[in-house]
This record gives sequence, structure tokens and C-alpha cells, in this order.
Amino acid sequence: MLNSNLCNLVNSKTRILGVIGHPIAHSLSPVMHNSIIFKNKVNQLNSEAISKNIDTIEKLKEFKYLKSNLIDNLNYVYIAFDISPENLKNMVVSAKTLNIHGLNVTIPYKIDVMQYLDEIDEDAEKIGAVNTILFENGNSKGYNTDGLGFRKAIEELMETRNLNTSNSTIKSKKILVLGAGGASRSICYEMSKDNFVTITNRTFEKAEALEKYLKSIGHKNVNSIKLDEFNNINNLMDYDIIVNTTSLGMHPNIDETVINLSKLPENSLVGKFVVDIIYNPFETKFLKQASEKGAVTQNGLSMLVHQGAISFEIWTGLKPDVEIMKNSLIKELNSK
Ligand code: ATR
Repeated sequence: MLNSNLCNLVNSKTRILGVIGHPIAHSLSPVMHNSIIFKNKVNQLNSEAISKNIDTIEKLKEFKYLKSNLIDNLNYVYIAFDISPENLKNMVVSAKTLNIHGLNVTIPYKIDVMQYLDEIDEDAEKIGAVNTILFENGNSKGYNTDGLGFRKAIEELMETRNLNTSNSTIKSKKILVLGAGGASRSICYEMSKDNFVTITNRTFEKAEALEKYLKSIGHKNVNSIKLDEFNNINNLMDYDIIVNTTSLGMHPNIDETVINLSKLPENSLVGKFVVDIIYNPFETKFLKQASEKGAVTQNGLSMLVHQGAISFEIWTGLKPDVEIMKNSLIKELNSK
């Protein structure tokens, strides 16, 4: 079906999106965003090719299907930029010079980049980190989509389990967050807008400091509890959603968990949601233990996809198909 028009995938009107970080070679963001951009372009080329010769019902059906799923003017490309620390400021200036339209920001620049931006969105300002930049009319504005990405992932998890996802149902859930680093901060900030959130961490002072900070900006539904308290595993029973935001259990240290759920009685997690923001491995030991005790579990791919989808919408104004994004990631991770 495809022809020489493939070289038109990137042309003189293509707008540039990308991700900056250091190192960046392992970033999954290019695959995830380009899956939307290129699938659309390929569908467009295929529908143009079919339109020249519709001589069967099947071809007509395929044409109509492709046409109905096309997004107009989605002429972008997404590139990874490995930026050394001394070039961070130059990068932001150069992005304007080169007419780059949008950037994701990853480790180690989510905080440092803020000083070079013209404007910061209110949520990103309060989280204290930026993972998305929009360049528009010579202005750079920073956003943080991590927390909202987590919220969308939780909503998706509840929807797939046919649970009522009205605001009041989600708001009534008590959340335990394991960890008090950068990822925890975005998640606790977003979820403590409506939900009661408990933070626990190996270094308790960090959990306490996050609690104090969130309270200082008006998020009252938050407390912090020492990690030791959860040696009494019954204390977990107070929570509807338990989230691991630490790196424990991530490849290659796949045998580690912050809390050992295997000590819980059979079926004790039925009706509860256990989430890990790790996606490599797909199922951490923590999630496996949770699932064995009856919990509904979710790995970090959903949060990754949803934070990406929100960034994509900030840049293009379009809601991308998150299933396409997720499948591209699964394929990429399976190929490694
Ligand atoms: P991120 O930005 O991915 O959240 P981070 O800011 O470095 O990463 O935070 C890592 C989190 O994992 C922290 O909560 C850290 O606990 P400490 O604050 O005590 O360092 C937690 N963590 C990392 N290694 C851990 C371990 N071996 N045991 C328990 N918690 C650990």
C-alpha cells in the first residue's frame, strides 16, 4: 500500500517536538509520541492511495474507516535531545530560535529548567518541577503532567473494572503513597486536592517535609506515617489505593519491595487498588504479591502514557489515542 510518499512523513512544514534529558538514549517518549504522529500519517497516505482506486466494497469500507480516524494537520516529529548540564540554558534559547514547538523534560532537568522559562503553570509551580514546555509566540511556558497522568491512570483502572468513576467515588478513596521523592511529590500534590493521602518513606523526615509543604499550600488532607508502622501489615487495611513511587523492584533489582505484602492473609486486598509506577518489569514483586492477595493492580505504563497524552494535548490541542501509545510502548519494551 505504501509508496514513495513515505519520504513526505517529515517535510518543510513539520513542527518539532522532543524530550530533553541526560542521558536520554533509553527514553521511551519518542516511540510513544511518534506512534500517534506516524500512524496518522500512514493512515493518511493509505487513504489517499485507496481513494484512487475504490473498486470493491471492502476498499470503500477501509477508505471510510481510515478517513474517519484521520487527524488533520498532525504534522509533527518527536526527537530525543541529550543535553549536557552546561547547555541547559542554551537549549531553551535555541529551542525558540529553531521554532521547536514543545518539549518534555526528564531527569535531571525537571527542576533546573524552570529558571529559564518565561512562564510556569500554577500546578507545576506548586509541584516545583516541569516535565512539559510549550513554545508559543516567542513565549515558553512550563507544565507538569505527572500528577494528572497518575489521576487519569487511576480513573482508567477503575473504569476497566466497571467501577463508578464519578468524582465522589474517587474522592472517597484513601491513598497510601510509598516514597517521598520527585514522583511522589507530583502524585501527592495532585491526589491530595481531593483525596486523603498518607505519605510514608524510608527517610521519614522527607515524608514529613512533603506533608508540611502540601499543608502550607492548602492541601489539608494529608499526613505522614513512619514506614515501620507498616510492619504491622494490618495498618495497610485503612487504605483503598496503595502506590509505590520508590525505585524498589525496578530492573535489575526485581526481588525488592518496600513492604512485604506476602505476609497478609489470603484475599485481604480484595476491593483494593495497588499501583506501582515502575513498568520494567511489567509486574514488580510488589504488584505480584498484591495481586496474589486479591488486589486490582496496575503498573507504571498507564501513568507514563497518560502524562504523555496530556503533554501531547498541551502542544497540539488534540487528545491522542492512549491505546496506540500504550501498545507502542509494550512493543518497544518487549523488543529489548
Ligand atoms: P523519583 O524522582 O523517581 O521519585 P527520587 O526523588 O530519587 O526519585 O526518590 C526515590 C524514592 O525512592 C525516595 O522516596 C527514596 O527514599 P529515601 O527518601 O529514603 O531515599 C526511595 N528509595 C530509594 N531506594 C530505597 C530503598 N532501598 N529503600 C526504601 N526506599 C528507597
